[in-house]
Amino acid sequence: MNTNAIEAQGLVKIFGDNRAVDGVDLTVRTGTVYGVLGPNGAGKTTTIRMLATLLRPDGGEARVLGYDVVRDAAAVRSLIGVTGQYASVDETLSATENLVVFGRLLGLSSRAARAKAAELLEEFSLTEAAKRPLRDYSGGMRRRLDLAASLIARPPLIFLDEPTTGLDPRTRNQMWDTIRRLVADGSTVLLTTQYLDEADQLADRIAVIDRGKVVAEGTADELKATVGAQSLQVGLAESGDLGTALSLVQQVFGTAGTVAPEGLRITVPVPHAEAVADLLVRFREASVAIDSVSLDKPSLDEVFLTLTGHAADDDTAPAGPASDHTEKVNA
Ligand SMILES: Nc1ncnc2c1ncn2[C@@H]1O[C@H](COP(=O)(O)OP(=O)(O)OP(=O)(O)O)[C@@H](O)[C@H]1O
Ligand SMILES: [Mg+2]
Repeated sequence: MNTNAIEAQGLVKIFGDNRAVDGVDLTVRTGTVYGVLGPNGAGKTTTIRMLATLLRPDGGEARVLGYDVVRDAAAVRSLIGVTGQYASVDETLSATENLVVFGRLLGLSSRAARAKAAELLEEFSLTEAAKRPLRDYSGGMRRRLDLAASLIARPPLIFLDEPTTGLDPRTRNQMWDTIRRLVADGSTVLLTTQYLDEADQLADRIAVIDRGKVVAEGTADELKATVGAQSLQVGLAESGDLGTALSLVQQVFGTAGTVAPEGLRITVPVPHAEAVADLLVRFREASVAIDSVSLDKPSLDEVFLTLTGHAADDDTAPAGPASDHTEKVNA
């Protein structure tokens, strides 16, 4: 019995001279949430579209629930639900009508389709708005309806492309709860996101992709360990202290921090918060005057900087070979 919902090796998609997906390997265990994390243009949607049989790969191969995405595309399609980055529902119809249409397309009787629509609208807190045409819906409502539509058939594997981008925090939490419930009910979910915290909250394993390549893969804890669990920012009162401050950072954390252009702010990943106390004591002993201190969760930008050697929104090529190898992160 195959316990992997997705097995992809060396997936490639080329648009003109752009290798949008450039040799992606993915293994997703059945019954888990798998997060594909990456910035704009990383190749997330293109990867999903190949796995969902919507786009033919130019190289590599992938099996979804045991079926080849090219040779057995029809079988794959019958087992998946896809929720796009942009809602795929009809503007002129109401939420109820949209869901009933989807239900009928999936072969439900009119009565069963209505019952299913009512159940899903309730689940997604859309009952109030159910009769209004979609053009009056907010982005968050559309997103919820789009997900509801993809769940009519309760497919065993669900692709969610940036399910919460642009949603307000409350709706985002609702979406997270729904995704957790789907998995608790036995579905497998592959989702893409630009948010580290979303992958952190939901995903059992995460692939970080950048420019079409997987640059790191592991659990959230494993990925964070490569970046440091948190990120320390220290603002110096005197720029003359920078040299001393950096050498103390190096001694305490075993790694050099990055320095903001104005030369007064040092950012460094910290493995655990206690190390910060050590650093501050060393600063005081060396008479390094501090203007501000803050401890933040690493941002996606910092994850990227650490893993790829360039910022997430930086279009220039990295200096080293960092983006050419896949870092398997082990606990
Ligand atoms: N149909 C297409 N034709 C030409 N180029 C495309 C097409 N689809 C995607 N691309 C290009 O492929 C690259 C990857 O795009 P993709 O949409 O997969 O990224 P993404 O990670 O989903 O980004 P976002 O977070 O913005 O949704 C981009 O450079 C994009 O411009
Ligand atoms: Mg996309």
